Amino acid sequence: MIAQPTTEPSAAADAAASVPGRHRIFSGIQPSGIVHLGNDLGAIRNYVALQTEFEAIYCIVDYHALTSTHEADVLRQRTREMAAALLALGLDPERCTLFVQSHRPEHTELAWLFATVTPVSWVERTPTYKEKASQQPDDVNHALLTYPILQAADIAIYQADRVPVGKDQAAHLELSREIVRAFNRRYGQTFVEPQAVFTETPTVLGTDGVRKMSKSVGNTIDILGEPDLVRRQVMSMVTDTQRIKRTDPGRPEVCNVCQLQRFFGDDYEDLWDGERTARTGCVDMKRLLADRIVTRYAPARERYRELMADPAQVDGVLEAGADRLRPRAEATMAAVRERMGLR
Ligand code: TYM
Repeated sequence: MIAQPTTEPSAAADAAASVPGRHRIFSGIQPSGIVHLGNDLGAIRNYVALQTEFEAIYCIVDYHALTSTHEADVLRQRTREMAAALLALGLDPERCTLFVQSHRPEHTELAWLFATVTPVSWVERTPTYKEKASQQPDDVNHALLTYPILQAADIAIYQADRVPVGKDQAAHLELSREIVRAFNRRYGQTFVEPQAVFTETPTVLGTDGVRKMSKSVGNTIDILGEPDLVRRQVMSMVTDTQRIKRTDPGRPEVCNVCQLQRFFGDDYEDLWDGERTARTGCVDMKRLLADRIVTRYAPARERYRELMADPAQVDGVLEAGADRLRPRAEATMAAVRERMGLR
């Protein structure tokens, strides 16, 4: 059965779609245990929108996840959960290819070859490396440093030219472009330079209203979680910190809760005005948002449950995806080996 998209196509996707020629889309997501509102509004809804217009390849990046997940059973389980979540949110295996990174070993081979054209200073300056190193100071493994080189290989191996991602991946995308350029300079034109495609919310703030929503920060809204959990998370959201009393007029432009309402109803202007004039209180606004998020994702949550109860179906999609990509990955690697003098 094919899951229906639960989100609207974004303006950014429309803009990308209007570019002449047929783009090849690639994106990756870590099997991190949950899928949160930031993932969906920042990236997944573009995965869904773009699969209808272009050839699209989506990858669950378990090699990348090994930089911080070290229990084999946990990684295996999370990989399946992420696949089920993406299918439940609207990825359609009839329209796109969904697979697991480690099922196509060419990714790590190309990453090694890309490492030979990548100066150490380029990876050392990556902001995500510094961020991760500070988040896990006892486990600053070498793969954290080379992480963006593997990401560049993920994209380049399929000659993808458009990459739907959130803003936090912009530096990685820029590095991917530089790596591809460095390779092309040394060995001749081989790869296309990929471009990021953003949604209209490239950075979704977390429940703290300050930092980007992220599992490692612990400020997420777990869209496929139980309704009680989603409600608790939304009710914990920080609103306008200058609004002390219920009768104080609010500032909807800085209130994360009000901003998110834009995606869950067509009464945003009215809600904006309600907050501005103190007609609506912060608690009312949060209750409404919680109800709407729970309702919006109810079909996906149900579909997710069904898929998790049928692991063979999920695994079948992933295996078929990796098989479908084999000829393309092998052809790229044959050309690369030839150019580099490896055969
Ligand atoms: P990951 O797994 O951290 O996130 C998956 C996608 O969700 C987006 N995202 C957000 N967007 C807006 N606001 C947020 N708060 C938010 N949190 C997450 C991310 O930008 C991303 O698009 N390095 C990548 C995975 C990767 C990849 C690739 C991506 C590996 N290879 C090749 C693109 C192409 C990552 O860790 O994403």
